[in-house]
Amino acid sequence: MAGVTRRGLLTTAAAGAGGLAVGIGGTELVRGDDGRTDAGAAIEPFHAEHQAGIVTRAQDRLHFAAFDVVAERREDLRDLLGEWTEAAARMCAGRPAGSDNDTPLLPPQDTGEAVGLPPSRLTVTFGLGPSLFDDRFGLAGRRPGALRPLPPLPGDELDHRRSGGDLAVQACADDPQVAFHAVRNLARIGRGVVVMRWSQLGFGRTSTTTRDQATPRNLMGFKDGTNNIRSDETAALAEHVWTGGEAPAWMQGGTYMVTRRIRMLIEAWDRATLDDQEQTIGRDKGEGAPLGRALEDDPLDLGARAIPADAHVRLAAPVTNGGIRLLRRGYSFTDGFDPELGQLDAGLFFIAFQRDPERFVALQRRLGAHDALNEYIKHTASAVFAVPGGIRPGTSVAQGLLTA
Ligand code: HEM
Repeated sequence: MAGVTRRGLLTTAAAGAGGLAVGIGGTELVRGDDGRTDAGAAIEPFHAEHQAGIVTRAQDRLHFAAFDVVAERREDLRDLLGEWTEAAARMCAGRPAGSDNDTPLLPPQDTGEAVGLPPSRLTVTFGLGPSLFDDRFGLAGRRPGALRPLPPLPGDELDHRRSGGDLAVQACADDPQVAFHAVRNLARIGRGVVVMRWSQLGFGRTSTTTRDQATPRNLMGFKDGTNNIRSDETAALAEHVWTGGEAPAWMQGGTYMVTRRIRMLIEAWDRATLDDQEQTIGRDKGEGAPLGRALEDDPLDLGARAIPADAHVRLAAPVTNGGIRLLRRGYSFTDGFDPELGQLDAGLFFIAFQRDPERFVALQRRLGAHDALNEYIKHTASAVFAVPGGIRPGTSVAQGLLTA
């Protein structure tokens, strides 16, 4: 595998030689000499004030993995996060995970399946679970107060083998093989220090995080992400997503990520009438407009009775829930067929970023108890992670936590 290069690298080199690198919404888009834009060549910046993969324009594909640390020394954990940061920065730039790929008597440092593929807007977002802050690494006194295991919530039917984890890696990209490659190579680098606890593939985004993106549809066929926090809502992000003075220094500009694997009872949903489906969500299925309104972007009319008391959007809306807003960034999934039930095992891998996981808990308590949607869904796995602030060149994720 001598001289491994990814096509993105070649394109970047070509752009440097006479092409044009332009920035659109924080995304570095590389163009060739002919002015043609190669969408797959776009690179999301790895080094920034906040970790990428949160307000980043939502990519089409997800590969998420949670790991448990099996090493016993804090230095091993610190070194791993250093190596992971370096490899992630390289892969997000469209480069191989490691540079030594041509020594015949050694395994290559990159597994090879992304060679020739463009960067595909890959982002890698790292998180730390509450279980990392036990007494194994002397971190018990450094756990941010907001980072606690989620309490039992109404309607939970959790599989603990697919929940929790010491560390999280969220890889998003417009090409599934690029996202897979990122997780696989980080797992390979971590061998001996971490073991993978669970992983989840997502095949279609269920949210928008920028205004120029069309609202996608979830597997229930409804537009999802209409009333999400967008990347240009600076004040809302500061209030609802990014941590501030309440967090330790290494968490400044960070956030908390909650993941919920939510199985949809698709067969029951498919037998529900259109009217029932719309009353359950509180929006119409075609346009995505709030019931009683005409257009998707019309505000919810909660004074009118068009939206039932137990409709999902009525219960989830900030005006009725005490002002809570989350940044949702989930993906549709299918894990094939459930032979016990004879049904597809599919649904929404819900991911939300918020300044304090307690806000998710308060909202889910309300939804889990009253939401009409509960007839058609089951929460089957759950996890929470602290997502440290952005990574500067030459530093590693959570460096302040492990070296101070
Ligand atoms: C499979 C499960 C779920 C489905 C199918 C679903 C679907 C939807 C749909 C179709 C909308 C309307 C469009 C939009 O504004 O995005 C919506 C809105 C929303 N959902 Fe969900 N959702 C699910 C789970 C959850 C969970 C677990 C939470 C949080 C605990 C949540 C929080 C919200 C919020 C905050 C809104 C925006 C409400 C507003 O301000 O109008 N959803 N959801």
